[in-house]
Amino acid sequence: CGIVGIVGRQRQVAPLLVDALKRLEYRGYDSAGVATIHDGHLERRRAEGKLANLDRRLGEEPLAGLIGIGHTRWATHGAPTESNAHPHFCEGVAVVHNGIIENFAPLRSELLANGAEFHSQTDTEVVAQLLSSYRRQGMTPRDAMQKALSLLEGAYALAVLFEDHPDMILGARSGPPLAVGHGSDEMFLGSDAIALAPFTDEITYLNDGDWVVITHDDLEIYDVSGERVERPSQISRGTAYVVDKGNHRHFMEKEIYEQPEVVSHTLSHYIDFAEGRVKLDAAQIDFANLDRLAMSACGTAFYAGLVGKYWFERYARLPVEIDVASEFRYREMPLPGKMAALFITQSGETADTLASLRYCKDNALTIGAIVNVRESTIARESDAVFPTLAGPEIGVASTKAFTCQLSVLAALAMIAGRARGTLTLEDETGMVQALVEAPRLFNDVLKSVQPQIETLSRELSRFKDVLYLGRGTSFPLALEGALKLKEISYIHAEGYAAGELKHGPIALIDENMPVIVIAPHDRHFEKTVSNMQEVAARGGQIILITDEKGAAATTLETMSTIVLPVVDDIVAPLLYALPVQLIAYHTAVFMGTDVDQPRNLAKSVTVE
Ligand code: G6P
Repeated sequence: CGIVGIVGRQRQVAPLLVDALKRLEYRGYDSAGVATIHDGHLERRRAEGKLANLDRRLGEEPLAGLIGIGHTRWATHGAPTESNAHPHFCEGVAVVHNGIIENFAPLRSELLANGAEFHSQTDTEVVAQLLSSYRRQGMTPRDAMQKALSLLEGAYALAVLFEDHPDMILGARSGPPLAVGHGSDEMFLGSDAIALAPFTDEITYLNDGDWVVITHDDLEIYDVSGERVERPSQISRGTAYVVDKGNHRHFMEKEIYEQPEVVSHTLSHYIDFAEGRVKLDAAQIDFANLDRLAMSACGTAFYAGLVGKYWFERYARLPVEIDVASEFRYREMPLPGKMAALFITQSGETADTLASLRYCKDNALTIGAIVNVRESTIARESDAVFPTLAGPEIGVASTKAFTCQLSVLAALAMIAGRARGTLTLEDETGMVQALVEAPRLFNDVLKSVQPQIETLSRELSRFKDVLYLGRGTSFPLALEGALKLKEISYIHAEGYAAGELKHGPIALIDENMPVIVIAPHDRHFEKTVSNMQEVAARGGQIILITDEKGAAATTLETMSTIVLPVVDDIVAPLLYALPVQLIAYHTAVFMGTDVDQPRNLAKSVTVE
């Protein structure tokens, strides 16, 4: 899931490659490897599992060399074993790859028929085999690359070494991102600017379809048709951030506690605090003249979008069509006239989200994107970019990106409401005031609920299943709560609209299935209380997350009641995200799981 490459003239690259891979660890992986060329020979070290295993391997059997490539792999084709780990070798060619070569099966059969011998179950190995077969036919590395790329279907970022050219690395990109870093007397390839941050902040991003040759002091970029092209270099913002945990145990914990600051930062981009109003010019979408808004995203970003749907419909009277991107892209949804599309993504690289964006683009819609990584593909392909200013999010389970996405959606819904004349000045200023105060409340809540949640999480860690319920904007939060818990603690969890309880999940209720109810004292509160009664009547144990008014209004016995301050409806999803995240975090810590890199998950999903 992460690629690095270094070509220089002075420094030994193997330790540098491993350091860069460590910076990509956050993307999730299950094996790793590096290869270098030294004295005219390609050599590699690979290991299953964490980078510490690769480090140990390199300690026992060091790799020399001033040029090399490295990779962390998130298994798609073939188990995460050492023999499936990258780099893959074939007769003097070494390849690392992110993505999926979709036509690898016919390519492999053809190569097998021509006498090739494969050593892994991966789709990647066909690339190494193809390149070496072209070299055998007498092609130069550049020609071999151009020819091989013309045959590959699917998604890939590649880095390639040729043993007989120890002064250059070839890279290619179709789908997953790949960046070139400019050093002094050293050049780099990397999946993102974060990986290259210790080396350089001067970055050239490849466009989709580009391939590149880098040497210690130069780069040549070619486009799909093999034409030499120039791509601008830029100074990356990614490098301004230090990627370390500070005094937190995990990145996830650090990111949860960063939320007051990053949400405040994000809000100030869209809200004029002095004037107490949203900044109309912050939206480059003509909301006033839309009949409908299409929205799509994956995972946690999708749940942020679902909250956004409630807001756009309520405050801007703008109908929203929303779906997960893996469905959206294939639904062949009609996109009539006055529609715009809005995509939400932390990484800006999620393959399904990008494909949905392109579907809308092909249908001539104006494209807006709420993105955390400003240099990402989705940011670059959108007409209007709405940044979340969360800073790099390293924990695989999204936390601060989610609340920043909610902040942007809240602001956009208000901007749309103002533009469409559906939001009164009084409502707007009241909501702005509430949002302005939110970061301070976040700080208070993070401090006040933490001890209670730690105790509760110890209890929760004994259960096998947990149900989350909520109504209105608390419904997407219930979904997000269940996602957070299952992805990092591996406890089975489901989120349901509270009103759906009686249509199925109620059959599961007994003393072994705690029910976490997210219920601010809003216009849905009484209805949700009725659902809690139904749970209690069947021996279910309730964990209630509510506010001071809600706590005072219910006499129901609970396993735990987490009490938050009373806030405006527009702030509630942001504020209630905090206990939801902390419950998942502390439960996972008690379970002893790998909180920042949960098994099987990746941070940036550039495959379908
Ligand atoms: C992965 C991550 C999730 C994230 C989702 C969408 O599954 O593990 O945390 O919500 O991708 O990612 P994006 O970068 O598009 O927000």
